[in-house]
Amino acid sequence: MSTIALDPAAVRRRFSALDRTLAFFDGPGGTQVPDEVIDAIAGYLRESNANVSGPYETSRSTEALVEDSRAAGASFLGCGAEEVIFGANMTTLNFALTRTVGRELEAGDEIVVTQLDHDGNVSPWLELARDLGLEVRFAAIRDDTTLDLDDLASQLSDRTRVVAYPWASNAVGTLVDVAQVAELAHEAGALAWVDAVHYAPHGPIDVAAAGIDVLLCSPYKFFGPHLGLGFARAELLQRWRPYKVRPAANEPLGHRFETGTLAHELLAGFVAGELRAARPADHGRASADIRVQPPGSDPGRGGNAIGRARLRRLARELLRGRGDEAPRPPGWRRARGDRPLQHGLRGRGTAGRARRAVIFPARTRHDSVTHARAARR
Ligand SMILES: Cc1ncc(COP(=O)(O)O)c(C=O)c1O
Repeated sequence: MSTIALDPAAVRRRFSALDRTLAFFDGPGGTQVPDEVIDAIAGYLRESNANVSGPYETSRSTEALVEDSRAAGASFLGCGAEEVIFGANMTTLNFALTRTVGRELEAGDEIVVTQLDHDGNVSPWLELARDLGLEVRFAAIRDDTTLDLDDLASQLSDRTRVVAYPWASNAVGTLVDVAQVAELAHEAGALAWVDAVHYAPHGPIDVAAAGIDVLLCSPYKFFGPHLGLGFARAELLQRWRPYKVRPAANEPLGHRFETGTLAHELLAGFVAGELRAARPADHGRASADIRVQPPGSDPGRGGNAIGRARLRRLARELLRGRGDEAPRPPGWRRARGDRPLQHGLRGRGTAGRARRAVIFPARTRHDSVTHARAARR
């Protein structure tokens, strides 16, 4: 059992974006990136900028980069490289994949989503339902903001085709037992479709162990560039008919669902942040030492976890305003009581936002729309 000690000063030095007198508290909006990610993006454009399939050096190194990116994605998600899909962001990938699975659905089929979801895992289903005559059901949350599994189970029927749910809530941080929901979905004959955007920066992911069929996340939430990263089980990718242009390659499987040319420079940034972290020999060179592993976890597998207990302790200290380690932004406010918390931002514009970040108690009854509004205030 081992943990990697976090040296905040050393980590901070690797983020040029932090070299200013501002505190960034919009964690769910994305992270800053370490300089090696910035350098890799610039380096790719300077030295290897090309498309794939050309008989020349830069094209070959671009192909190698795409392959490395799939390996990095697979290591991060715990799946095969052919099961990795890159896209513009989670939302775009989700619209594409929901459209794709829609080809197997018919009027009267049912989709279950949850009140804990970000709209990126709700609207694609609502739009699909509108086009195909599907029914979308919402599983409720309890007053303590946990997903009500009894309610979710009661929404399932022999017409349920997909259960779409989050691994963690971006609004209140509540975790969902993804494996348990996957089991419920599978018992009903439905796919387990997970939004891991908010969870991915905080905990290790193993899609196989969790029994997940489809999972989506966004590397810009964990020190990477603005990209979407997806997984779908090979059997599904094999079976689904992709929306693709005819000359585009069918292999590797995930590539069928990546329309057009990938953002190679962003993949270079992704690899700089992830692949090195996944190789034990290179630990410490990239994001591995930015992330603190939970004791006993495998740093090469979903190697992105900040020790959860420590994170909770830091958050509690921050909220109570007496943390030695916790940074306090000017103008921060103390949250009252032990009620569920929702982070939010007051003020307009980047500078105003960063200066006046506050943390305030969430409503006890809410839906994702309420949260979206609150988070934008
Ligand atoms: C939980 C969750 N799901 C989905 C999204 C949408 O992700 P993207 O911006 O990559 O489309 C976000 C964005 O904040 C999110 O927090």
